[in-house]
Amino acid sequence: MNLRIVNGTAGLHLAEAIAPLLGAEPSSCEVERFPDGELRPAVADVRGDDVYVVQPTGPPVNDHLVELLLLLDACRRAGAGRISAVVPYFGYARQDRRSRPGEAVGARVIADAMASAGADRLLVVDPHTPALEAMAQIPVEMVTAVPTLASALATTLDPDTVVVAPDLGAVKLAERYATQLGLSVAVVRKSRITGTTVHAEEIVGDVNGHPPAVVDDMISTGGTIEAAIRLVLDQGADPHAVVAATHGLLVGDCVQRLSGLPIRRLLVTDSTAPAENGLTTEVCSIVPLLADAIGRLHHDERLDDLLIPS
Ligand code: R5P
Repeated sequence: MNLRIVNGTAGLHLAEAIAPLLGAEPSSCEVERFPDGELRPAVADVRGDDVYVVQPTGPPVNDHLVELLLLLDACRRAGAGRISAVVPYFGYARQDRRSRPGEAVGARVIADAMASAGADRLLVVDPHTPALEAMAQIPVEMVTAVPTLASALATTLDPDTVVVAPDLGAVKLAERYATQLGLSVAVVRKSRITGTTVHAEEIVGDVNGHPPAVVDDMISTGGTIEAAIRLVLDQGADPHAVVAATHGLLVGDCVQRLSGLPIRRLLVTDSTAPAENGLTTEVCSIVPLLADAIGRLHHDERLDDLLIPS
């Protein structure tokens, strides 16, 4: 089967860089947008090909998601031999359980939709929850950008730094950063008030006099990072914070929130297209990671060293 890299509109910046690394031509799709908001994507000839549809589902999440679903279906109907959905940022992954009665399990619904639309397999980067694998009916390869981000952090890191998990869900992630960087971990206990406001209740671990490296899978409105940094500063941390997260959505009041904090470096990846928003971010590219993963999947090779450790 020929390798074919197809991109949706949200994946153009990645596909254009990945394709040459794999000796493949990027196959951009045409997306027609109807006046009522409907999308109509069309793919080039992919008959018999091993197709990788690159489309992160960052903001506007629902538009990018629907475009991806239509693209997967278009590839299937065009006779693709095998279809992998490459979704570096998987929106809805935070809805991995019902936090109160009456809610949906959004992550499961979306994973099912991708499988029904035609995906034979998913390739995702640092999804919010590893439970995604168990929710999906199709194989999910979960690769990680933590080694890339940690290496970039290491270049200027104070040896006294403490890695801070801004909530309990980020503890394993923080441990992975700490292991690579040879540092200790402190953990914030956070409660979420609304989609945009959180409260950092307490911190477990010693941050007094230490510069914090706050790490998370994603930064959305910045509320979680802001609350964690304010708490560690209250606890006497050195006000030279660094922040690293795989997915920098930076929506809502994020720019105002983070620009008011003593953040020395803010690292994210290009899992979603980097936005011009006045915030100084360092973007560590996941193009080499995705190209490596796609190349191995195409040749039916194992991804072991690229995967999130279990
Ligand atoms: C939640 O548990 C996630 O890991 C992130 O901490 C959270 O989604 C970030 O959102 P925000 O930036 O809006 O606080």
